[in-house]
Amino acid sequence: MSGTLAFLFLALAVLLGSETEIGAAPQTPVLTGPALAYQGSRVQFTCEVTPWASPLTFELWKDTEGLIASGQGLSVTFELLVKEGSEGKYFCKEASGGGASDTIKLQTVVPVVGARLSSNPHPPVLFEGQSLVLQCLVRSGSRLSFTWFHEKQEVKAPSPQFRINGNTLSVDAVSEKHAGKYSCMAQNQVTLNPRFSSSTDLQITVKQHISDLSISFSISKEVAGLQANINCSVSRGSPPIRFSLLLEGKEVEVKSEDTLSAAFTLPLSLGVDLGLAQCGAQTESQRLVSDPVRVHVVPVGGTVRVMANYLYDDSATTVVAILLKCTAERGTFPIFSWIFNQSSLPLGGTVLYTTPALVLTDIRPGFYRCRVRDRFNDSSVWRESDDVFIQKTELAVAPLELVALVFCVFLSMVIIGGSVFLFWSVEHRFKASKHHHHQGVQTDAEIVNAQQVDPSSQPQTINIKVVTMEFEA
Ligand SMILES: *[C@@H]1O[C@H](CO)[C@@H](O)[C@H](O)[C@H]1NC(C)=O
Ligand SMILES: *[C@@H]1O[C@H](CO)[C@@H](O)[C@H](O)[C@H]1NC(C)=O
Ligand SMILES: *[C@@H]1O[C@H](CO)[C@@H](O)[C@H](O)[C@H]1NC(C)=O
Repeated sequence: MSGTLAFLFLALAVLLGSETEIGAAPQTPVLTGPALAYQGSRVQFTCEVTPWASPLTFELWKDTEGLIASGQGLSVTFELLVKEGSEGKYFCKEASGGGASDTIKLQTVVPVVGARLSSNPHPPVLFEGQSLVLQCLVRSGSRLSFTWFHEKQEVKAPSPQFRINGNTLSVDAVSEKHAGKYSCMAQNQVTLNPRFSSSTDLQITVKQHISDLSISFSISKEVAGLQANINCSVSRGSPPIRFSLLLEGKEVEVKSEDTLSAAFTLPLSLGVDLGLAQCGAQTESQRLVSDPVRVHVVPVGGTVRVMANYLYDDSATTVVAILLKCTAERGTFPIFSWIFNQSSLPLGGTVLYTTPALVLTDIRPGFYRCRVRDRFNDSSVWRESDDVFIQKTELAVAPLELVALVFCVFLSMVIIGGSVFLFWSVEHRFKASKHHHHQGVQTDAEIVNAQQVDPSSQPQTINIKVVTMEFEA
């Protein structure tokens, strides 16, 4: 629009100019000057008639104030100090009469100073999912545009993460990635000599919700006796977190922690049931309670057994590993060791295992036995299982799975054998009639091989891989 106006103005000036040359009297003057100026700056308006040889008296007028100034010369330049009321339409005239120049509409701009950030909420500490609104405020300034920075990077508007509207940057639901330093820069939208003002950084903190509160329970032997160590921990969340220990639903101890876990201790006697313990975790916005754990420690006792799992490969014919599992009838915190052919396993030293399973990949046949005692009492007595004889091709016992496996192998043998024979006989007859014809990918040699090899080496669809055996003491 202004472009069109400027063009019209120019066209008019050209017209007027050509008229000057034709006529002899002073013609309509032309006013030049800025359309936009900072308040407090000085601007110049020049009035002239071209071409003209002798000085004239020119007057500068403003639409709302009338005559402002006058001066003599071939062209006259009026200087104005731009103030708040300087906005308006200016034009000039030649004093002795004649037309008025085109008007120049002067707009004033307040230079930007004092940019700062305001945040909602304030102080800018939010939980995940809350909404954040930042505003770029200025002490003074008009015709402003705003640029935002997050961690020194310019925030590109439209983005899925941020919404920018005027001097406002907003996030509907903050997440961790929105945390960090923000600043804004306000700028006068002026092509010539633009001015800027930048805010200081504002640190936005995004707190995580606490989640997955878990309780763990261990035991240690102290001078004063046995002690239950209860550890409460959350998998994520922002500290501080107020952890509490609950016994049978009653809060017995509270700890505020700057970490994601807290440890509690309780005096304990063997065999005495302290009841169900739970952890509580609380922040200003959440309150979680863990699953319960029974604080009741019974010493290892009762019958000790070994259980063996035979792990077969895909063809379900070769044992690739044997998994031995040691179980005691009682015992809250057992520890295990293994004996092979009367000596400790691995050979050369007793290794204590906190898990009941032992995996044998290098399977040496012989007698295996396990021992169990209380983990927390080094002087407690080992309880032993009976020796069990383990070997790679253990077929002495025939549990249900093994029966199923054998049956499946037999069935596949019958099917494969049958189909191979059928195929062979068909092929044979076909070959007899048409000697040089090869059918499919199978050659004669392969067919012969297929008949000769162990049918169980053919790919099986059976997927039984684990055979379990239990040896009771
Ligand atoms: C509690 O358990 C957590 C997770 O297993 C662990 O990281 C933390 O160190 C433990 N805290 C204490 C005080 O034992
Ligand atoms: C373990 O004992 C069995 C049975 O007496 C025996 O066959 C085997 O060779 C022994 N293995 C080793 C490694 O001593
Ligand atoms: C540790 O085991 C020994 C031997 O069984 C027993 O006398 C003692 O009382 C046990 N100590 C604790 C703290 O259970």
